[in-house]
Amino acid sequence: MRLVLLGPPGVGKGTQAVRLSKRLGVPHISTGDMFREALAKKTALGLSAKEYIDSGKLVPDDITIGLVRDRLENPDCAGGFILDGFPRDVAQAEALEKILEILGVSLDAAIYIGAGSRIVVKRIAGRRVCEGCGATYHISFNPPPEDGKCPKCGGRIYQRVDDRQEAVRERLKVYKALTEPVVDYYKGLGILKVVNGEEDANEVLEAIISMI
Ligand code: AP5
Ligand code: MG
Ligand code: ZN
Repeated sequence: MRLVLLGPPGVGKGTQAVRLSKRLGVPHISTGDMFREALAKKTALGLSAKEYIDSGKLVPDDITIGLVRDRLENPDCAGGFILDGFPRDVAQAEALEKILEILGVSLDAAIYIGAGSRIVVKRIAGRRVCEGCGATYHISFNPPPEDGKCPKCGGRIYQRVDDRQEAVRERLKVYKALTEPVVDYYKGLGILKVVNGEEDANEVLEAIISMI
């Protein structure tokens, strides 16, 4: 199964990608997570992405497309993958088509997870993330332990810099201007599926599974 997950910041792409990856047995590829991991290790990639991410802007396409190309060429992607946070503009979507053509495969579906802006802002404001394993929590919907340590790995739980109000506003603007056209792009290819992301996370998962 080769899937792309689309949708506004904070709608639950990462949450669903983790579950789908377990259910379908294919890797979860999140460009946002890859950048944050690179930054935690202070690599050149991470440091060059930092200012874009912290301010809510897109990391330049040449950096991001090369990163995804390398990742998709990895043998663990031969049986499928779930892309989360890529493609994020039409140039990335076109580049992905070319990469897949060279690999001799194609996408099975692009799943658009939708929710109103009040809901996504609330989800982003309450999100907390583990520095060690990337596990995601929410102060109301999935609260992390009070000691601030991740139950899965013991890592420190923190709030993403780009989850603060000003960066969130910019991310929503960038999403409208650059990423929404990607939804139409996949509609044009005839592989777009739409799910209601306002439901409980388990219901969203089942809705996706029943569609694919
Ligand atoms: P990225 O990390 O991809 O961020 P994003 O797209 O803004 O999406 P989020 O991770 O914020 O939200 P999500 O949909 O994954 O929601 P989640 O599951 O966590 O990108 C960050 C930055 O990296 C970008 O701004 C850019 O700078 C750079 N970047 C990344 N990819 C790039 C690319 N391709 N090109 C250029 N730059 C790129 O859920 C949110 C919260 O809600 C959590 O707390 C969760 O527990 C909770 N939640 C989830 N589902 C539910 C539910 N159904 N009910 C209740 N709560 C829920
Ligand atoms: Mg995410
Ligand atoms: Zn952890």
